[in-house]
Amino acid sequence: MVGRLWRRQYNLMLTLLLLPVTAAMKPTQAMQTLTVALGTRSYPIHVGSGLLDQAERIARHLAQPSAAIVTNATIAPLYLARLSQGLRNQGVKVTEIVLPDGEQYKDWQTLNQIFDALLAAHAERKTTLIALGGGVIGDLTGFAAACYLRGVPFIQVPTTLLSQVDSSVGGKTGINHPLGKNMIGAFYQPAMVVADIDTLQTLPARELSAGLAEVIKYGLIHDAPFFDWLELNIERLRALDEQALVHAIYHSCAVKAEIVAADERESGVRALLNLGHTFGHAIEAGMGYGNWLHGEAVAAGTVLAAEVSRRLGWLAETDVERLRALYQRAGLPVTAPVMAESFWLESMGLDKKVENGRIRFVLLRGIGRAEITDAVPAELLSATLTELANATS
Ligand code: NAD
Ligand code: GLY
Repeated sequence: MVGRLWRRQYNLMLTLLLLPVTAAMKPTQAMQTLTVALGTRSYPIHVGSGLLDQAERIARHLAQPSAAIVTNATIAPLYLARLSQGLRNQGVKVTEIVLPDGEQYKDWQTLNQIFDALLAAHAERKTTLIALGGGVIGDLTGFAAACYLRGVPFIQVPTTLLSQVDSSVGGKTGINHPLGKNMIGAFYQPAMVVADIDTLQTLPARELSAGLAEVIKYGLIHDAPFFDWLELNIERLRALDEQALVHAIYHSCAVKAEIVAADERESGVRALLNLGHTFGHAIEAGMGYGNWLHGEAVAAGTVLAAEVSRRLGWLAETDVERLRALYQRAGLPVTAPVMAESFWLESMGLDKKVENGRIRFVLLRGIGRAEITDAVPAELLSATLTELANATS
């Protein structure tokens, strides 16, 4: 594990900025800022309320006053005009690229639509791509930024809880392949992340719950006190309590930032962020992308990982029950869908953590302590899938 360094980082990097009051803003808007420390590629993450209307922060960060905002048909009517107009008011030339909405569009064809629009707009090397949306838009836009003209800057403006706590941070970008999720992509860090919690007001409750799966993940892999805090505050988060949201998003990003700074390219500790994902990706692929939300699949997948941990003697039954109960209170599924065992194994065999043909699982030694292992006996895995996921032969 990366030790307790993040706590120091949490304290050192926390900057509480009280923004000036203007007629358009709420009386006091607190923003918290932390940094992903990657040397010359370090970048800030701003978390707070009212940030979408403060385009000057983004404008100041552009390499030249030219930007292409990539979003989708659901988010565009809600937030695109505000961000575009705000940037234009700062003298920025803005191109708008509106894609279809859905995980099924995280593919080559949609990626190409971004390139078509950038070329049509004569976007240059210093044009910044701005991802305005959830993880699908963020992953697509980041990958487009990594490829277009061999690399242009990009900024993440995440609008789902999942993207605010996970996908906008750390530079994993990419698209899906019919044979596996996120199989084509690049590590490419954003120049800045701006997480405006107000956007969560329009997010469907099911999507909010999906984001909570990743928030809970940080407690499980790295931080038992945060898990305890979540047990006390999960209802406040579901009710969009501002203070609770800022705390949970900031805290989640701080854990992720520390892990990414320690292992940007996932040669070690970063793999722990994939708790529940080996099973979860199989669920997403098996049920058809978009039918089970990523966070839902991660929740059900984490319960399976916890059960494997328990059967190995790593995790107490009471801890399995604690995490199952918290997922349920977060509005998440805790039972995997019925799928053929051969599909589970084939799909998990395509996982990016596979080494020398062996599936590597992130398992739990306790709440707040995760470990990666390839030593799960085939019979134990098979029994877990059959008994808990009703896997068919
Ligand atoms: P998403 O991007 O599909 O967004 C969920 C839905 O909410 C979409 O319909 C979207 O249009 C809508 N939406 C977004 N913001 C909204 C708002 N403020 N109000 C109303 N509707 C809104 O899903 P997601 O959960 O944000 O992201 C999932 C994706 O992220 C998956 O593709 C997953 O693989 C990827 N991911 C990437 C990383 C990474 O490190 N890059 C990490 C985790 C997940
Ligand atoms: N979501 C896993 C990672 O960023 O590594």
